[in-house]
Amino acid sequence: PRPILLTRHGESQDNVRGRIGGDPPLSEAGEKYALRLADFVHKRLKNEGTASIWTSTLQRTILTSRHIVGFPKVQWRALDEINSGVCDGMTYLEIKETMPEDYMARKQDKLRYRYPRGESYLDVIQRLEPVIIELERQRSPVVVIAHQAVLRSLYAYFADKPLREVPHIEMPLHTIIEIQMGVTGVQEKRYKLME
Ligand code: G3H
Repeated sequence: PRPILLTRHGESQDNVRGRIGGDPPLSEAGEKYALRLADFVHKRLKNEGTASIWTSTLQRTILTSRHIVGFPKVQWRALDEINSGVCDGMTYLEIKETMPEDYMARKQDKLRYRYPRGESYLDVIQRLEPVIIELERQRSPVVVIAHQAVLRSLYAYFADKPLREVPHIEMPLHTIIEIQMGVTGVQEKRYKLME
């Protein structure tokens, strides 16, 4: 059985400031995660022969993959974080204060709420379809380094979670979710590499 390893990028400078979207670099903790992740991946995939590392096109995922060597890396635009449109770069508090109706609408239906000039979770789920098809076709392990909303959607697919739960799935930083697809179904292991 070939594993799929899912992880968010290391903590970004905007995670620290509570800002969404953007294309920020990693925080100091995020940089540390990039080192630990490489160590983990090198050990975990040592006996697996080939494998590939997939990131989004945003620098926080590319920087998180930086220390992993010996495997091809592929950048997917379809793995980029949910596009928060006019809210890009804002904090949730700023959204609540300047766009209270949007804030409430999202709270009430986070799955379907579409950011003005941006995306909804349903949009993200749809654009991930080619990624899922390709993931299922792979014969060797894949490490997917992506973003919270994207990983909630991917994980929900493999773990067979209902759509309505997708936006609320816990997807902690600095944690690897290993998924094994075998004949008897899907098995999952989690590795928390740091706080
Ligand atoms: O920047 C976007 C966040 O990673 C997605 O989180 O859908 O819970 O607001 P959210």
